[in-house]
Amino acid sequence: MTDINRQITLNSRPDGWVVPDNLSLVEGKIPEITAGEILVRNLFMSVDPYMRARMNDVKSYMPPFQIGKVLEAGVVGEVIASQNSEFNLGDIVVGMLGWEDFSKSDGSGLVTVTRGPLPLSYYLGILGMPGMTAYAGLVDIARAQPGEVVFVSAASGAVGSVVGQLGKIIGCEVVGCAGSDDKVDYLVNDLGFDRAFNYKTCGSIAKKIAELCPRGIDVNFENVGGEIMEAALWNMRDFGRIALCGMIADYNNKDMTPGPRGMGVIIQRRLKIQGFIVFDNPASNREFVQKAVTWLQQGKLSYRETIIEGLENAPAAFIGMLKGENFGKQIVKIA
Ligand SMILES: NC(=O)c1ccc[n+]([C@@H]2O[C@H](COP(=O)([O-])OP(=O)(O)OC[C@H]3O[C@@H](n4cnc5c(N)ncnc54)[C@H](OP(=O)(O)O)[C@@H]3O)[C@@H](O)[C@H]2O)c1
Repeated sequence: MTDINRQITLNSRPDGWVVPDNLSLVEGKIPEITAGEILVRNLFMSVDPYMRARMNDVKSYMPPFQIGKVLEAGVVGEVIASQNSEFNLGDIVVGMLGWEDFSKSDGSGLVTVTRGPLPLSYYLGILGMPGMTAYAGLVDIARAQPGEVVFVSAASGAVGSVVGQLGKIIGCEVVGCAGSDDKVDYLVNDLGFDRAFNYKTCGSIAKKIAELCPRGIDVNFENVGGEIMEAALWNMRDFGRIALCGMIADYNNKDMTPGPRGMGVIIQRRLKIQGFIVFDNPASNREFVQKAVTWLQQGKLSYRETIIEGLENAPAAFIGMLKGENFGKQIVKIA
């Protein structure tokens, strides 16, 4: 085994869009472990939109990444050395580790999972943070009910693709939007969305939503913000709910953008808007994973991944995901 540990560090803070130069590939030694620690060979890592926010030096629900330090990510890895009685050689662990070939850990926050028929990378997607987010937003926050109309943006992505399928399992009418015709085709023909559209080519997004949701929207699962959120807001039904999950349209903006126009509609239609963070309700996270394993095995849920090979390609995977180049969940295969 090589004794080199390749790592991706934050070289500089992005000024607007992330560029490759903001991230550096460096080589260090594989870390030595001491009592209570384990060494993990990282197999898969996730690139996620929230990482862009952590590149800014601002206070949030997670601390900012530090210049010159290894970036953190959700990782699936194999324990290859252990001085911690809770972990054995060969265990597969999932949790927050580094953008690197090998990570050492005291085990905090890591969970052990078993190899099974489902791909291990699913623990970073449908059986991990993005899948839990879809369930938390649709079930706990928006409380979607059978027969209601659910609208979801970034619908073919890691979170959105699960939101739509969960909506169908609940018995909702599901409409989504995505950034290419191939993605729209996938939503309707593979994932069972009732209707979908390409927000880049549809003309007025508000008019398109009105056409595809003639009864209006009961639940808006908002992943994007900006123009799409504004268009959804104007199409909400009385007493509708907006689960505010993400605002990816803003993440690379240098300056904060004004909120949606026409906020008076919130009063007129008695709407509720609630932001949430996936890990607010751990019981719901566990409940979802149990259900999702069954639904995947029964074919009621499916999941698409874009897997890029090689740690050295993680920066490109991350930047590409922010631009919509991913189809489904973006994963990096490290080993
Ligand atoms: N609250 C939470 O706890 C939580 C947890 C996880 C994720 N999130 C949020 O959920 C959202 C989706 O995350 P994800 O992991 O599922 O990512 P994803 O959808 O797999 O990937 C991001 C997608 O966003 C779309 N996008 C990027 N810029 C856009 C723009 N200006 N307008 C419209 N669409 C744009 C692109 O798809 P198109 O090709 O369709 O444009 C891109 O593929 C993000 O906002 C993220 O921050 C929140």
